[in-house]
Amino acid sequence: MPRVLRVSPTTPEPAVIAEAAAVLGRGGLVAFPTETVYGLGARGLHESDVGLIFSAKGRPKGHPLILHVDGDAMARTLAATWPERASLLAEAFWPGPLTLVVARAAHVPDVVSGGLATVGVRAPQHPVALALIRAVGEPLAAPSANAHTHVSPTTAAHVVRSLGDRVELVLDAGPCAHGIESTVVDVTSDPPRVLRAGATSLEMLRGVVSDVTYDAITMTGDAARASPGLASKHYAPRTRVVLADHGRKFSTDLAKIAPDARRVGVVVWSAEAKSETGVTFPGAVALVTRLLLPDDPAGYAHGIFAALHEADEASLDVLVIERVPDAPDWWAVADRLRRAAEK
Ligand code: TXA
Ligand code: MG
Repeated sequence: MPRVLRVSPTTPEPAVIAEAAAVLGRGGLVAFPTETVYGLGARGLHESDVGLIFSAKGRPKGHPLILHVDGDAMARTLAATWPERASLLAEAFWPGPLTLVVARAAHVPDVVSGGLATVGVRAPQHPVALALIRAVGEPLAAPSANAHTHVSPTTAAHVVRSLGDRVELVLDAGPCAHGIESTVVDVTSDPPRVLRAGATSLEMLRGVVSDVTYDAITMTGDAARASPGLASKHYAPRTRVVLADHGRKFSTDLAKIAPDARRVGVVVWSAEAKSETGVTFPGAVALVTRLLLPDDPAGYAHGIFAALHEADEASLDVLVIERVPDAPDWWAVADRLRRAAEK
């Protein structure tokens, strides 16, 4: 088991930050909280440290990592050019859950961006993440702190379960505020293009740069190629996930899609589905867990990864998840669910 240190989410203890910075300083890996999900951190300008991230996660070498910075001055040092639209978005949303993909400066190691000519940079809002970046004095490369293709961790316990000894130290500041990852926006193109929907909504982005594009359909085509980490089988719990309309349809879909299922869990969000306490399944199927998530996208996002982790712990055969609305403010969540259900 890795070492786990508790740290205050609001006023991180300097001694804890110093200890974590020391581990990073000698080339080790530290998992730390951000406002989105926990990250698996290494010194981002040290090629061999960054290499450890790939082996710890079992992540393919071509998948680019995000460099976490303490603000826009550090970000500019990593970019070959810093377009006006990057300034506007950084000013509006940093520190916060937004990653900007910019042209990569020559001194950023190839391994960070999987050989792409660009690099993803983000200033996180979490006081622990910011304190750690400042203590180390250089950007931290950090993907979500889970094994490749697994569900992103929103608690320190999730990190420990997914990575075990492959991470040296875990900073535990409790559950993450947003619960899904940052929005990734490519600002090398004009207009800028959303590569991954996330905790900063399209509507918020368009409030600042009105022509930001996002095409949920091409996410499996062009954008997926532009952002190799967006492999569609991603965020997948070990448990099989089935998306279904609420109510009686749960049992119909289940009989069709997973006829062998015995232990079933259900995740619902709508008032209608929450009130249907008597949903029954055919034959020997037992409803083991029934998770109720909030009916607003931010509240739902906060709880969904924890629900997927819970499904794995309960050794379910199938987790039936009520479909979410097809509306822009639900897109980030819908994207995670689609990937979780992909097999
Ligand atoms: O909220 C987050 O972004 C979390 C926390 C820890 O900051 N990090 C995170 O990292 O989710 P990761 O590695 O799990 O996902 C990074 C995403 C991937 O989809 C990757 O393809 C994309 O960002 N990305 C990173 N650099 C890129 C680049 N240069 N070009 C295109 N896509 C990039
Ligand atoms: Mg990830």
